[in-house]
Amino acid sequence: MGCALVTGASRGLGAIIAERLATDGWKVVVNYANDTAGATAVADRIGQGAYVARFDVTDEEAVRRGVAEIHEHAGPIGVVVNNATGPQPLMPVEKQTWNDHLDQLRFFVKAPLLLLQAALPDFRAAGGGRIVNVGSEVVDLGNADYGHYVSAKAAMHGLTRSWARELGPLGITVNTVEPGWIPVERHAGEDVSEYRQQVPLGHMGVPADVAEAVAFLSSPAARFITGQRLAVNGGRTMS
Ligand SMILES: NC(=O)c1ccc[n+]([C@@H]2O[C@H](COP(=O)([O-])OP(=O)(O)OC[C@H]3O[C@@H](n4cnc5c(N)ncnc54)[C@H](OP(=O)(O)O)[C@@H]3O)[C@@H](O)[C@H]2O)c1
Repeated sequence: MGCALVTGASRGLGAIIAERLATDGWKVVVNYANDTAGATAVADRIGQGAYVARFDVTDEEAVRRGVAEIHEHAGPIGVVVNNATGPQPLMPVEKQTWNDHLDQLRFFVKAPLLLLQAALPDFRAAGGGRIVNVGSEVVDLGNADYGHYVSAKAAMHGLTRSWARELGPLGITVNTVEPGWIPVERHAGEDVSEYRQQVPLGHMGVPADVAEAVAFLSSPAARFITGQRLAVNGGRTMS
């Protein structure tokens, strides 16, 4: 079965995804870059089936070392959930620099690429594997002042589509889960009322809603689903 690596799992959606995958019996790798207390608390809540792995997913050498340590302590990788994110500042296009775009591409294209390349030998040995990319509804909505983030998330789904076709013959599925606005720690105190009015189901989502979708796509039940986008946003966007 291998272990499930959840990037950026010291808080927010990643923490709840890690906890949810553990309930399905996955040995879960709680990755993070800075917040040791947060990652340790997540691992403590999971208990025995958790391994904490501190490495910067955007750094090639750090990923190489991090995955070597995962192999040593948690075994081969069976699932990669690309969830980690850095800051996502809103800014008008006149203010956006190429570096602002690279900041997003590092998380949503570079990190998934490095992690896929690191996990591929395990997937090949096991005859399959799962990748779940955590995208965003902004790809469908095209939010203003967000070209750097929107385009990087769109590129991430481009990886999903290309990898699904290329790696399908190896038994590897690749899918994107697209959350709407799911308030987490970093949104504390923000007013959700205007957003909530545009949600057909009439309420905000919670991290567990996203975690359920990731758990499904990581499970044997989703074995014939690949290259797909699953919006988890109460119907705010529709396909
Ligand atoms: N929450 C939402 O409303 C929402 C909506 C749509 C899409 N999403 C997507 O869902 C994902 C999670 O979002 P979130 O709201 O849960 O974010 P968050 O609360 O800010 O958490 C980000 C996580 O990424 C980790 N991280 C940051 N830099 C890292 C690095 N270089 N290497 C490894 N880990 C790193 C952080 O841990 P450390 O600080 O310890 O490094 C933290 O655990 C993102 O991809 C985001 O774009 C979220």
